[in-house]
Amino acid sequence: MHPAPPLSVQIAPRGPLTGDVTLPGDKSISHRALMFASLAVGRSTITGLLEGEDVLATAAAMRAMGATIERGDDGTWRVDGVGVGGLLQPAGALDMGNSGTSTRLLMGLVASHAIHATFAGDASLSGRPMGRVIEPLAAMGADITASPGGRLPLMVRGLVPAVPIEYTLPVASAQVKSAVLLAGLNTPGITRVIEPVPTRDHSERMLAGFGARIEVEETAAGRVIAVHGEAELQPQTIAVPGDPSSAAFWLVAASIVPGSHVTIRNACMNPTRTGLIAALRLMDADIAETNARSVGGEPVADLVVRHAPLTAIEVPPDLAPSMIDEYPALFVAAAMAEGVTVARGAHELRVKESDRIATMAAALSAAGVTLTEHYDGLSITGSGGAPMTGGVQIASKLDHRIAMAMAVAGLVATDAIGIDDARPVATSYPAFFTTLDALAPPRD
Ligand code: S3P
Repeated sequence: MHPAPPLSVQIAPRGPLTGDVTLPGDKSISHRALMFASLAVGRSTITGLLEGEDVLATAAAMRAMGATIERGDDGTWRVDGVGVGGLLQPAGALDMGNSGTSTRLLMGLVASHAIHATFAGDASLSGRPMGRVIEPLAAMGADITASPGGRLPLMVRGLVPAVPIEYTLPVASAQVKSAVLLAGLNTPGITRVIEPVPTRDHSERMLAGFGARIEVEETAAGRVIAVHGEAELQPQTIAVPGDPSSAAFWLVAASIVPGSHVTIRNACMNPTRTGLIAALRLMDADIAETNARSVGGEPVADLVVRHAPLTAIEVPPDLAPSMIDEYPALFVAAAMAEGVTVARGAHELRVKESDRIATMAAALSAAGVTLTEHYDGLSITGSGGAPMTGGVQIASKLDHRIAMAMAVAGLVATDAIGIDDARPVATSYPAFFTTLDALAPPRD
């Protein structure tokens, strides 16, 4: 276990980042591993699980609905599932903390079970839109009562048998796709999701691994994912690969701090997640991939990143879904590149743990960066490698990725950058500050 991230931190330049990083487990895959293992009949084991607050919220919810979930002293998690259709009525409200993925995917599961559940969360989560999952789940027959604006707290009353639907995603969202597919697991017939723009496909990959009948077809309308309902999931042994969204901070930090040379081990290289690497390479970053292999049905590699002068780019909007969580880190890279980087087509950033366009615009401009805010992104005038001014305290707005991105910015600021509340880092990367200290010890 790692010490809890501090309330407020000051990050000042420390010299180059050097050494090896062992990444925490992928957050998206960790949530799904716990959920699907809880729906299998028998015991699954999971290694490499992300032990962050978001994933622990999923574990607590699955326990509240009947699964037995234990962590061994060696860090292996053992899950005894209840079977599809076997979820039990939770005794109290499900506390989702900061986690949108837990909320939206579990709403899908509850929607087709003969139970009802109240979902509650922190101030950040309670401001996020749930209408995008309420709409298809209501079409499948779930009865959902939400707070004004389709927000948390909300109550889902499942229907058995639920009604299979064919649903075209109106927003590029793996959470919405997954919510519908998970509801489809306990629904008679075939539930189909059509995604015009591909989003992360961990649910499809892992459900196939658990023995669900799931078919994916590329059509003119997009990817069609069909899940056969009343599925029987077989218990599995799962190794969770490292989180590329956590790797993002080291990819950017090592690229912008002169003299850096970092090896990042065990990064998930699923093509629906590698947009940041593609964007940084377009900016002339020096990132090499070695030791390509497969872990738990996902492509994995080690990444070697060295400092390199970055060049501004127009970020291709079609990369957005495959780097949606990495924009805060990318904006910091853009602030250090030569020229004006334009990142548009990423309006979904407005409804993440914070409004990441507004939060990063405020934080970076306070730190001395010149930028223009658009409704769907930022244009950032890079310094060509000169340090940003810093000397400010920025607001993380209960958003882990803002806190980590601005910590990286502190490494290239003349005066330290303060972060008002770094505790949300524990949702996805409890070891972040320990790892930062190991790669680049603070100067006294
Ligand atoms: C996730 C999907 C993405 C991403 C989130 C995790 C998932 O959200 O931002 O951090 O695990 O399915 P959207 O589905 O809202 O794009």
